[in-house]
Amino acid sequence: MQRLELPLFEQCGVEVWCKRDDLIDPMLSGNKWRKLKYALLAAAKDNIHTLLSFGGAYSNHLHALAAAGARFGFATRAIVRGEASSASNATLSQCRQWGMQLTFVDRQTYRQRHDPAWLASLAEPGLMLLAEGGSGPLALDGVGELVAEVPFSPDLWVLPCASGGTLTGLLKVKRPDEKVLGIAVIKGGTALRDTVTNLWPGAACDPHWRIALEHHDGGYARFSSELWQWLQTVTMQTGLPLEPVYSGKALWGLCRELAAGRIQRGSRIVFVHTGGMQGLAGLKERGLC
Ligand SMILES: Cc1ncc(COP(=O)(O)O)c(C=O)c1O
Repeated sequence: MQRLELPLFEQCGVEVWCKRDDLIDPMLSGNKWRKLKYALLAAAKDNIHTLLSFGGAYSNHLHALAAAGARFGFATRAIVRGEASSASNATLSQCRQWGMQLTFVDRQTYRQRHDPAWLASLAEPGLMLLAEGGSGPLALDGVGELVAEVPFSPDLWVLPCASGGTLTGLLKVKRPDEKVLGIAVIKGGTALRDTVTNLWPGAACDPHWRIALEHHDGGYARFSSELWQWLQTVTMQTGLPLEPVYSGKALWGLCRELAAGRIQRGSRIVFVHTGGMQGLAGLKERGLC
């Protein structure tokens, strides 16, 4: 836990602590480790030798899966949305070094990743298929474990939200009165609420959570120079490493919520740093930061 001190927090009368899940491990960190943990345990128990999943060319999930495969003795394969030329980018080079076998597909083929018939055609004995982003049914319990690692009961949890799996895992386990605020890092996340309640129907009965949709700053993996400059300043002020796709955008969203007066004075807030720092290398490579 790291206490974050920013002038805005003092002005708004809130106490903010960061749950540093980015520090779980240099390669297998944040929500990626949390989501993979029980899938890996199930794979080991069921004598699975190969893990196959899906992702984009800069996917944190594929990066973590490749690292896990190398560390725990599973072969790994990935179906990657994009051109074969991206095999040499920072994320996928590292995946290949860890032995991950990559297959590149166009957008149309990639869209089939939820289609049971297509998934069945990929099945092989000893192979486990993992959902995109690791957001399968086994992911929620792993994410929920972070709650017990925080030594107090916060008034509010804040975290980035893309597919909704991490938020759902947290909702399942947090204490009834604790509030949860997900910051959507994607544009047009209106379906996210339903995604969460589909993943865990109990969420529909909990009035203490919401997803803020207006801090996406242009959409997934997009960000303004204002956001980028803001991150540099906050990192200098707090010592917290941030990237603009997930953790940085979510902290930015929290600050905008505070500035808009949407968070109660006196709140003790836990901001969950969900990792993803490997993505910075890809952004730099593309000249985006
Ligand atoms: C580093 C990081 N943080 C947060 C998220 C968002 O998590 P979720 O997709 O479970 O909402 C992701 C994407 O999975 C991620 O890679």
